[in-house]
Amino acid sequence: MPPTRPTSSATAGVAGEQTKILDLGYPFSLLCEVTFRCPLQCPYCSNPLAFARSLRDELETKEWIRVLEEAAGLGVLQANFSGGEPLLRKDLPELIGAAHALGLYTNLSTGGTLLTSELAGKLKEAGLAGFQLSIQDSRPESAEWIAGMRGSFVKKAEAARVAREAGFALGINAVLHRQNLDRIEEIIALAEEWGAERLELANAQYNGWALENRRWLLPTRAQVEQASNVAAAAQARLKGKMDLLFVIPDYYATYPKACLHGWGRAFLTVSADGQALPCQAAREITSLSFPNVREKSLRDIWFDSEAFNRFRGVGWLPEPCRSCPRRDIDFGGCRCQAFLLTQDAGATDPACILSPHHHRIEEALAEAETRETVAWSYRNPIESKRLSEAEPRPTPPAVAKPKPTG
Ligand code: SF4
Ligand code: FES
Repeated sequence: MPPTRPTSSATAGVAGEQTKILDLGYPFSLLCEVTFRCPLQCPYCSNPLAFARSLRDELETKEWIRVLEEAAGLGVLQANFSGGEPLLRKDLPELIGAAHALGLYTNLSTGGTLLTSELAGKLKEAGLAGFQLSIQDSRPESAEWIAGMRGSFVKKAEAARVAREAGFALGINAVLHRQNLDRIEEIIALAEEWGAERLELANAQYNGWALENRRWLLPTRAQVEQASNVAAAAQARLKGKMDLLFVIPDYYATYPKACLHGWGRAFLTVSADGQALPCQAAREITSLSFPNVREKSLRDIWFDSEAFNRFRGVGWLPEPCRSCPRRDIDFGGCRCQAFLLTQDAGATDPACILSPHHHRIEEALAEAETRETVAWSYRNPIESKRLSEAEPRPTPPAVAKPKPTG
């Protein structure tokens, strides 16, 4: 289960700090979204809304191995395997083994519900280095309600145990939002109880599914402030014991982050159907067309494609970014967010208070304060087809799904 935005160790920041920008001239990290299939249905999934169209078009084993070889040849240092649920790929140990043999640091992001001791052993043997387990909440009822899968909580607890038993340093990530933010203290306690060495608490990024479900997910300011305080106290308390990263929501920041260290600068995603993307959410930008690894080499894609060059560097920046002193810090913010909120991928990120479109963020925040109950869409093939075939983006249904007690 992928987070809402790639937040590898290289991109995650601590409570509002801007991390050091990577600028190597070649991609540092390859995200391999090896499948869009998933037993969970998280309403903030970073997979494209239209993922159901690509379910039968997954890259084959030999195509992934070629991608990994090309990535290593380009200078990539780490390969992150994600999905969907990557454990659904029977060839996952083989793919991880290939990446490891090429000298890449390998990391797995999984929902964990399919992990067995035997599979964990195979992954370890293949050379998997990092193991990251997603959780949805601290309590079984609400975690399973958010994930849309009964019995998933106990399977995740077992996955954490099995992963540690196999010798992995356990990383846990939780996407934070309106429905679980008030339990951040419990989520941290759960990560401690399950033996995590690293906990990444990233607030939902409102692209794709999360934008579709934004009214259900967007927290109030009081929730965010309270959570920031709890995270800061826990960071101090757990220093030296567990790395804790808390990424504040863009909507509550004054200026945007340098999304992915800047477009086409350090990160490269290859999706299940072979599309190469500067960012895993980028295919939501329908004004750009993205190359496919079945047709072009990664080298051609990285250096020469229109999609990767369009927003690279600062030469393309509009005003107010062009004459802003922060332009080399955040590169005008997130391109996906700019497109989804303004229909112009070249606009200043509306999350920036200097953006002429910032009122769109303020309006959403004002609405979030009203605390009304709204329905949401689970991420599943039926909803994917319904939402991606609907034009324009539909308003959410009026009837709310029942919330479990407890
Ligand atoms: Fe960043 Fe542009 Fe806002 Fe300046 S105006 S802070 S460069 S997004
Ligand atoms: Fe795609 Fe920010 S999420 S550029």
